Amino acid sequence: MGSPRKGGNTQILLDEAMRGAREKGAEIAYFDLNNMKIGGCQDCGVCAETCCCHINDDMQLVYQAIRESYRFILASPIFFAGVSAQAKAMIDRCQPFWCEKYLLKRPIPPEGRAGLFITVGGMKKAEGRDCSFATARSFFRTISVLEHRELCQLGVDARGEILKHPEALKEAYEAGKTLMEP
Ligand SMILES: Cc1cc2nc3c(=O)[nH]c(=O)nc-3n(C[C@H](O)[C@H](O)[C@H](O)COP(=O)(O)O)c2cc1C
Repeated sequence: MGSPRKGGNTQILLDEAMRGAREKGAEIAYFDLNNMKIGGCQDCGVCAETCCCHINDDMQLVYQAIRESYRFILASPIFFAGVSAQAKAMIDRCQPFWCEKYLLKRPIPPEGRAGLFITVGGMKKAEGRDCSFATARSFFRTISVLEHRELCQLGVDARGEILKHPEALKEAYEAGKTLMEP
């Protein structure tokens, strides 16, 4: 969860997706990135040698969950034509997975991995969506999620405005359920 806004549009859609996933039996590790201590990648090169990140912050919890889970939802508002800084910091810190996959040729076994990206933008311009989609794709492939679905609501700005779009809520709920299918 990459939005800082409590009760915001991203949160509402994510809650719907998680509700659908739980109905299909999901046990969910939820990370509210805005309230976690996750520093930016330092490009120190340690993970190129060890495939581990030596920064001892809350990202260590996310690393463990990424290794242990097989379905993933990334949710972020569009901020300045991309994902939020909170989401991006977490994604950049996935460099150890990138090293493991592309340098050591030792990807996390991708069997059963699938993803869902949820994003909301206040404007109707597609450029924010395009950039966010590219970042989400890069994130998912790095953690060996070979397939993911994208949900994007544009032109939704005020806190909770997404509630006026019941079709978007339903779509998120259904996407959460579908994510849990084999
Ligand atoms: C710092 C900041 C930057 C934003 N940049 C964009 C943008 O580039 N494109 C866009 O469509 N909306 C932009 N927005 C609007 C948000 O995407 C929109 O309000 C969204 O509904 C917020 O989702 P949330 O309620 O989950 O936080 C921006 C909002 C903020 C606070």
